[in-house]
Amino acid sequence: MSTLVVVGAQWGDEGKGKVVDALASRADLVARYAGGNNAGHTLVIDGRKIVTHLVPSGCAYPGTLCVLGAGMVLDPDVFQAEVADLQAGGMLQGGELRVSLDAHVIFSYHRALDGLREDRGRAGAKIGTTRRGIGPAYESKAGRRGIRVRDLFDPVRLRARLELNQEFVAPELERLGGGEVRFDVDAELARAAGWAAWLRPLACDAGALIDEAIRAGRRVLIEGAQGALLDLDHGTYPFVTSSTTLAGGACAGLGIGPTAIDKVWGITKAYATRVGAGPFPSRLDGALGDLLRKAGDEYGATTGRPRDCGWLDLPALRYAARCNGLTGLCVTKLDVLATLPEAAVCIGYEGGVAPGVDELEGARPVFAPLEGWGEPDLAARVKAARRLEELPVAVRRYLDRICEFTGVPLALVSVGAGRDQTIFIDEAF
Ligand code: IMP
Repeated sequence: MSTLVVVGAQWGDEGKGKVVDALASRADLVARYAGGNNAGHTLVIDGRKIVTHLVPSGCAYPGTLCVLGAGMVLDPDVFQAEVADLQAGGMLQGGELRVSLDAHVIFSYHRALDGLREDRGRAGAKIGTTRRGIGPAYESKAGRRGIRVRDLFDPVRLRARLELNQEFVAPELERLGGGEVRFDVDAELARAAGWAAWLRPLACDAGALIDEAIRAGRRVLIEGAQGALLDLDHGTYPFVTSSTTLAGGACAGLGIGPTAIDKVWGITKAYATRVGAGPFPSRLDGALGDLLRKAGDEYGATTGRPRDCGWLDLPALRYAARCNGLTGLCVTKLDVLATLPEAAVCIGYEGGVAPGVDELEGARPVFAPLEGWGEPDLAARVKAARRLEELPVAVRRYLDRICEFTGVPLALVSVGAGRDQTIFIDEAF
C-alpha cells in the first residue's frame, strides 16, 4: 500500500496539518491537489506552532518531497513569503519543493474581487470567504482565461491573457469598487516577472513526478484542503469553497488515476466547527459553544475568525464517508472534548429525515448525551494515552459509536497538539 489520500470530513479545520505531519514522517512525497491559501494547516513541532497555507504539511521532514498540484490556485507572494519563513526555520533546505506548471495563479484582481463582493456584493450572496481570491481565480480557470504557472514564463502570452482578463474583470471592479480599484496590466506584468524568476526552478510536470514516484513504490501522501461539506459539488452549496475537496479530486488535481489510490482517510474532530456562512445544524449557541471554542482554540488559522462550535454531526460524517469512499477515520481533538463537563453527539434529525446537504438548513438535530463524560480527570487521561486501550472507557465507547454509525474503521486518534500525542491504529503505508 503506497498511496494514501487524507481529506477533511467536515467543514475544514479538522486537524489535517497535524495528521499529515504525523503521517509525513513515513512518506516519501506529500502532495496537495486543490485550494490555495484559504487553507491554514497548523503543525506543532517541539512546542513551536507553524501554520502553512500552501506548502504541504510534509515540509517538516528533510528529504520529503512537497508538491503543489495542478488543481491548486497559487498566490505567488504568499507562497514566496511562506517558503522564506519555513526556510528560516530550518525547513525545505534541500530542494524538496515542486510546483505544477499547470497550477493557476491568483492575481491582485482576484483578491480585490473576492473582498469587494464580500463587502459590497448583494445581501444574501455573501459566503464569508477567506478573501484570498480563491473563488475568482477558479472562475477564471473555468472560464478558460485563467493564467497558469507556465504562462508566467512567456511574457507575450501573459500580456494577452491579462488583457483578456481585464475585459472581464474591469467592469465588475469598477461597479463594486467605485473607481478605487483598477486593473493595471503593466503593474501585473511587472509583479509576474519577479514571480517567474523565483518559480522557474520549482516548476515541473507534477503529475509525471507523482506518477513516477507511485510506480517506483514510493510512499505518497496526498493532502486535501478544506472539508467534504465545503466541496463545490457535494457540499452545502452555495456556502462552499470553489474547488473539489473530496478524495476524488485528488486524481484530477494531481494528474493521476483513481487506480493509483490505495487508501482514503477522513479526518474529523471529536466535535464540529464551521467558519463562514452556511448551515450548521449541530451548532451550540450558548455557554458550551463558547467553552468549546476556548478549549479548542477555535479561531481560523488563516483569517483569525472565531469558528462556530457544536457537537459532532454523525449523519453529516456518514455522508462525508460516502462521498470520499473513506477506508479509515482519524478522530482529532478528543482531549478538547474531554475537558467539557458534558458532551453530546448528533445522531439524526427531527422527523427522521436523513438530510441531503440541501436540507441541512433549518434541520433540527437530535442529540444523544455521551455517557461517562465529566469525570474530573477525563481530559488528563485522554492526553496521556498512547494506545487505544489507555483511553478512558467513555471515550472508547464514543469512538466505537462514531465508527459504527459511519461504517468506517478507526485509523488514527489525536489526543493533543504534540507530535507524540497521536495513536496509530492503522499503519498508513
Ligand atoms: P473561500 O474558499 O475563501 O472562497 O471561502 C469559501 C468558504 O469556505 C467560506 O465559508 C470559508 O470560511 C470556507 N473555507 C475556506 N477555506 C477554509 C479552511 O481551510 N477551513 C475552513 N473553512 C474554510
